[in-house]
Amino acid sequence: MLSNKTIVLGVTGGIAAYKAAELASQLTQAGAAVSVIMTREAVQFVSPVTFRALTGRPVVTEMFDLASEFSIEHVSLARAADVVVVAPATANIIAKLAAGMADDMLCCTVLATKAPVVIAPAMETNMYENQVTQDNLSELKSRDFVVIGPAAGWLASGREGLGRLADVSDILGSIRRVLGRDGDLAGKHIVVTAGGTREPVDPVRYISNRSSGKMGYALAEAARDRGAKVSLITAPVCLNAPVGAEVIRVGTALEMRQAVENLAPRTDALVMAAAVADYRPRSAAGQKIKKGDAPLTLELEGIPDILGTVKGEFVKVGFAAESSNVIENATDKLKQKGLDLIVANDITASDSGFGTDTNQVTIIDKDGGVDSLPLLTKHEVAERILDRVAQLLAARES
Ligand code: C5P
Repeated sequence: MLSNKTIVLGVTGGIAAYKAAELASQLTQAGAAVSVIMTREAVQFVSPVTFRALTGRPVVTEMFDLASEFSIEHVSLARAADVVVVAPATANIIAKLAAGMADDMLCCTVLATKAPVVIAPAMETNMYENQVTQDNLSELKSRDFVVIGPAAGWLASGREGLGRLADVSDILGSIRRVLGRDGDLAGKHIVVTAGGTREPVDPVRYISNRSSGKMGYALAEAARDRGAKVSLITAPVCLNAPVGAEVIRVGTALEMRQAVENLAPRTDALVMAAAVADYRPRSAAGQKIKKGDAPLTLELEGIPDILGTVKGEFVKVGFAAESSNVIENATDKLKQKGLDLIVANDITASDSGFGTDTNQVTIIDKDGGVDSLPLLTKHEVAERILDRVAQLLAARES
């Protein structure tokens, strides 16, 4: 979604300016044309040469630099931008933007653009918490600026606190979200489940499975990038939560079911990518089970199916991880659970299924349509699934 987009990256004079180099690099790698504008102070922290090398494009540092193709008409970048990002945004630039000042190239560009503006504040905690900075940020938010961060952690002042630049991955997520806000899922509420549920055996142990959550997280990100409001119901996984999604953390299958049911009245589509346990210990021991010589038997009881029993008129998408007769088994599940779509994959294939970054799936619909996709990244698979969800939602409206 970033390819062929024009992104103006404003870099201001804080120690976090060095992190903007990574942001510029990642945006460029994703195919965006990144034009960097640096303030006079930013140049004290990072050389314009760094951004020139990373983006392959001229870097603007002066308002009246006659060598720059942009300075002749100082609003040309403002006009070309699909999004303007200010990262890091110091207290100073936040104040200037809130006041509508136009005394440097970055301020002029933000003032002149009709593109959305994302700002990532980074400063010392007291400066951030100062009422005047908070008022300035509120003013910018009321004008539809998107503010990402700051995060908490170690600061250049040597203290811990709020004021660190948001993670580059979160800034990227915000940019994607802003660019996609008028996408084909705008106004829709998509609920995605992800990860493997954990069924406790005792306070220390649990029964779970090999799900990494990658497919569900890719779906949540892709739905957000197409304009949807996303609720991600997630079992414990080692992945960063997608920026902009409502994240509901659960442990057991029953907690996941409760979360799905709570959201059901507001859901337009439910995509159950989670690997939900089918059985759980009949009772979890209150104390840690001691090691002994005798064999230990755990009695397991079945867990009610979430997808098959949740009530609501929304689009329902399930997954079927199969190790044999993939299409037949998945089609049976689609019928049993009353689904619109089922995404089947053969978990015995290499590069596909649990833990991998790629997946080879077949999307089966309730009319018997079978679409076998090639090996794709989980993000590409997510896009293909959401193409179908968007079609189903559009058909319901027409
Ligand atoms: O029947 P099976 O577990 O293979 O079905 C997989 C699909 O059903 C997945 O979409 C999974 O998230 C969902 N499921 C569920 N509730 C369960 C078990 C699986 O919704 N208890």
